[in-house]
Amino acid sequence: MTAAFEQLWQEIAPIGRDPKGGYLRYALSTPELVLRDWFRNQAARRDMDVSEDGNGNLFAWWGQSWGHDAVITGSHFDSVPHGGGYDGPLGIVSAFLAVDALRERGVTPDKPIGIAAFVEEEGGRFGVPCLGSRLITGAITPKKAAKLRDADGVTFGEALGVRPAGALPDLMGRMSAVVELHIEQGRALADLDAPVGVASAIWPHGRWRMDFTGSGDHAGTTRMADRHDPMLTFAYTVLAANKEARLSGAHATIARVLVEPNATNAIPSLVRGWLDARAEDTATLDRLVEAVLKRAHDRAERDGTTVVVEPESNSPQVTFDTTLASRLSGILGDAPILPTGAGHDAGVLSAHVPTAMLFVRNPTGVSHSPAEHAPDKDCAAGVKALATVLDHLSRK
Ligand code: GLV
Ligand code: MN
Ligand code: MN
Ligand code: MN
Repeated sequence: MTAAFEQLWQEIAPIGRDPKGGYLRYALSTPELVLRDWFRNQAARRDMDVSEDGNGNLFAWWGQSWGHDAVITGSHFDSVPHGGGYDGPLGIVSAFLAVDALRERGVTPDKPIGIAAFVEEEGGRFGVPCLGSRLITGAITPKKAAKLRDADGVTFGEALGVRPAGALPDLMGRMSAVVELHIEQGRALADLDAPVGVASAIWPHGRWRMDFTGSGDHAGTTRMADRHDPMLTFAYTVLAANKEARLSGAHATIARVLVEPNATNAIPSLVRGWLDARAEDTATLDRLVEAVLKRAHDRAERDGTTVVVEPESNSPQVTFDTTLASRLSGILGDAPILPTGAGHDAGVLSAHVPTAMLFVRNPTGVSHSPAEHAPDKDCAAGVKALATVLDHLSRK
């Protein structure tokens, strides 16, 4: 199995790799379109039909396309800027290999198995994560999704080439179970010395765009006392977010910034920063965000600047089907059950279908970074576990 994994993994390893490190696989960009073609070829090699859902999500079928009681697996191809190669693609590659493993065993599933490649999971291009699963479940309207813009002003609708189809309750109603395999994005499995785990929950999280506006002016001639520098308000907010998150046992990150005019010798007129905040429960998250925003506004008053906050996306708390999680843990030899702070399409789908996730050990825990890695041997263990789970879920 390890050799089979290595071989298939190497097919996609060069696609979208950036010489500066990691991957640039934005949704519907050239490398992601190449991966989608690769997906179609993999399906064809296995006599699996591929269907598209009009929202940018692809499905490869073992058994009848969109037949009743379908078991959905898979993940996403898109990456964050200079992200790792495993976050997403591991779930898709593992799904094809799990199908191979079951066929080699002579298994014929009673229910159709669909391998999904969801579009724009990271929100790295259009800003809203899990866009494909939000669309198919109706968590975002096609009108709103179509209008989301990337950094070059291209809308999601334009990139997709059609107006997104939006909610597809009929197709959602044909899913009997969803299982997404993903590299773990933390060190829990490494600490537990286990190659594979089962997800229990996803922390609630969200993104807030914060516009700090002040007075653009000359760096050399404007007296320090006369300045209304939004960079100061912004810098204070970064520190405040870090402190508030530490105090509440939550996570807050400001990692994306846009500065205008972005000149060494000009006090900025605008600093736009994106707050990513996550906590174990909704009440803690709400308190955290409220505290950060209050401190930003208070500081703006002092600096003579303004702050305007626009929520960009919200991912509610997810508790995966506990019966399903313990059943899967059991058939995988008491695999550990663990929560995560990372968002996934499985989380969005879990509000509609019994859903589970499998995590594959990540020895350093690093993710959303070129250093993200999982050993081939553990990936092979993941494939084996996924095959066991698909076999179990696809029986009548
Ligand atoms: C997606 O990977 C996220 O949780 O940011
Ligand atoms: Mn990710
Ligand atoms: Mn992912
Ligand atoms: Mn993710």
